[in-house]
Amino acid sequence: MKPAVVLYKSLSDDLRQRLNAFFDVTEIPGLDEENVKKYASVLQKAHGIIGSGGKFDQKMLDRLPQLKVASTISAGYDKYDVDALNARGILLMHTPSALTDTVADLLMGLVLATARRLPELAQRTRVGEWRDNVCADWFGSDVHHKTLGVVGMGRIGMALAQRAHLGFSMPILYNARHQHSEAEQRFNATYCDLDSLMAKADFVCIILPLTDQTHHLINRERLANMKPSAILINAGRGPVVDEVALIEALENHTISAAGLDVFEQEPLATDSPLLQLPNVVALPHIGSATHETRYAMDATAVDNLIAAFNGQVQENCVNPQVANSSGAGGEF
Ligand code: DGY
Repeated sequence: MKPAVVLYKSLSDDLRQRLNAFFDVTEIPGLDEENVKKYASVLQKAHGIIGSGGKFDQKMLDRLPQLKVASTISAGYDKYDVDALNARGILLMHTPSALTDTVADLLMGLVLATARRLPELAQRTRVGEWRDNVCADWFGSDVHHKTLGVVGMGRIGMALAQRAHLGFSMPILYNARHQHSEAEQRFNATYCDLDSLMAKADFVCIILPLTDQTHHLINRERLANMKPSAILINAGRGPVVDEVALIEALENHTISAAGLDVFEQEPLATDSPLLQLPNVVALPHIGSATHETRYAMDATAVDNLIAAFNGQVQENCVNPQVANSSGAGGEF
């Protein structure tokens, strides 16, 4: 008997076939409240689940009494109550390496877009304001040779440092839980405590996961510590930055601009003050959203699910310690 798997995001035909070869798959349209109720009996029987989005708290896990493996099509797993998964012996698989370069490209794009005011000036051109040679009112600031602060020197932080240092001759400061000798050797990066980094960097790039420790890590005091010419970029998780404090800092010109791909509430409300500010570039959480990378994430998540049910969780597993007790290798 094949394990029963619930798929709650559509996949390309080849990946769907690969999933079908290993599992008895039921596809459902999503995991919002309505679908969770409508497909309660399917969820009740699921040994595995694969998709992106949804909130896997205790209430949701109670609806999945047979669950052995959850495979999320994302690098971040802040929507999962990992303690509750551990207590039930459920493996959580994710896709941390599939999106590294693509998210780093977007971060560099936000650095350029904010410093050179690309969306704002493109819009002014579109509406016919370009009538003569541009004057200082249209100028941006340089990116090359400016100091880039990386908050969170994981895979994406490294890929950003590579682009910024080797491509744009930018000195790199970084803050992370541990010093990173590879970043120091390859990109001449300098380890800094967070407050010094915020005070010194021209661009502060936040690439942190959301945890109890990182929630509102970038608060009013830390924003006030930044240079008035500095720019904040966030492409990690929205709630790492206190959004109310950020709006104030942008309105008061405590900082110069912000490039944001993530927000405290997503989708961003259309009446958010952030959307009224010309010094904000706001994007709809598109860090990994390219055809190539989203396919690679889907494929990785499918392979992760297969590997977990085969008892092979050497990589991409959030909680490998439960592998031995979960029975995911066959006892379902
Ligand atoms: C991730 O994979 O965590 C990205 O933020 C896309 O959701």
